[in-house]
Amino acid sequence: MEIMYLLLVLISMLCCLFGVLYFYLTQVYVYWKKRGVPFLEPSFPVGNALEMILAKRTTGDVYRDFYRKLSGYKFAGLYQIHRPVLLLMDPDLIKNILIRDFGHFQDHGFPFDETVDPLGANLFMLNGDKWKTLRSKLSPTFTSGRLKMMFQLLVECGQELQKCFAEPANREDILDIREVLARFTTDVIASFAFGIQCNCLSNPDAEFRRWGRKWVEPSFNQKLRDILYFMMPRLAIALGIGNIPYDVSKFFMKVAYETVEYHERNNVTRKDFMQLLIQLKNQGCLDADNQDNGNGQTPLPIHAMLAYYTFCERISGASIHVLSAGFETSAATMSFSLYELALNPGIQDRLRDEIDTVMKNHGGSVTYEGIQEMKYLDKIISETLRKYPPLPTLHRECTKRYEIPETNVVLEKGIQVVIPTLGIHYDPQYFPKPEVFDPERFSEEEKNKRHHYTYLPFGEGPRACI
Ligand code: HEM
Repeated sequence: MEIMYLLLVLISMLCCLFGVLYFYLTQVYVYWKKRGVPFLEPSFPVGNALEMILAKRTTGDVYRDFYRKLSGYKFAGLYQIHRPVLLLMDPDLIKNILIRDFGHFQDHGFPFDETVDPLGANLFMLNGDKWKTLRSKLSPTFTSGRLKMMFQLLVECGQELQKCFAEPANREDILDIREVLARFTTDVIASFAFGIQCNCLSNPDAEFRRWGRKWVEPSFNQKLRDILYFMMPRLAIALGIGNIPYDVSKFFMKVAYETVEYHERNNVTRKDFMQLLIQLKNQGCLDADNQDNGNGQTPLPIHAMLAYYTFCERISGASIHVLSAGFETSAATMSFSLYELALNPGIQDRLRDEIDTVMKNHGGSVTYEGIQEMKYLDKIISETLRKYPPLPTLHRECTKRYEIPETNVVLEKGIQVVIPTLGIHYDPQYFPKPEVFDPERFSEEEKNKRHHYTYLPFGEGPRACI
């Protein structure tokens, strides 16, 4: 009798909870309708997010479908569970939000808590003034002059990659190109950003690669974490769930601390990014920047700097689509380029001719200047990034009340805005026969014909890829 009573109480409580949730969400689901914004009909209790939650398709594909369904509108509303999200489709409006009215959309809108996510304070995740300060400190480290200075590190890793290819090629063996390239980009990032040689190419089980793999390998836990974080970041944080597994964060933090310590203790000077960051930490600015803006520069707090060291690793991942800066983005781009070259032998031959000619002109060496001369290679990479942008959506959060130009629609502070990059890249009005891999879409003539804001693999504006 007592059990029956308890069961009844439990069922009543569940019914009440369901009722409250239903009432709450039905109130939320009129948000766009009330504002006269076209929207996709949401379903209780997940809004328009069912496919993303079930993880049957990638977020990029789901947003590409939204874009297609809503074609003809300049913008439209969606619901990510309980969160109203505005999808932008008009290139002029996209330009306004990314550039002209950037002051209203400065943040990416991914909240984090450093106690849960020690690496949270990185450039991608930071908001407001903290982002502005760190961006202004780090931007000078990415000038073409400084990248040129570090180019030799890339060439050295490239030589290792060549060895990795040679043996299986001679044996006409099969190679898991995705894995080899992930090891290559891990070597590059480790050398470039951490100033260490981790030899992942020659040793697939190197510690650096093991932790990197642990981070990106899709597992049930990882998927759950990603979905919760992407859909309801504040709830995820409240539950103590960070965006990166804690032990992975700890490993990369430890490596960064030890490397800084080693460099400083032994007065190591190496032409790498780590050296520039150490300079930033100690002086607040880089040597050459003193003349330009040496006024009032203060040293970077160590945690902000270290968060950046690991940033390139942090934002990799098989995660739904969130942050991918260093090795995942680059490894994915190279893998997809090679895939398309395999499918298109004519393009492959033309590229090989270009590479042979340029190399001959540069005494058989891979040089920074030589790479700049490879115009056809550039078109191939651009077309790869059109078909396979590693970040298939761009995100901004409205940080100040915003009236969408030429409409009565007002966006309140806190509203998430999403640009469906992949959807736009496959829109036949901008890229006819979008499934076809055609590097000539990126000839100067074709580029000039298109609206600039229809091709966004690196984002745009002050918050674009560094
Ligand atoms: C094929 C390679 C890459 C692609 C396609 C790519 C793409 C992107 C995209 C789409 C964003 C967001 C931009 C926006 O919101 O407007 C971004 C941000 C960023 N990327 Fe990349 N990225 C690549 C490689 C890299 C690498 C190698 C690094 C660093 C070594 C890097 C560093 C960053 C940083 C620091 C941000 C955050 C910028 C900020 O919020 O201020 N990316 N990237």
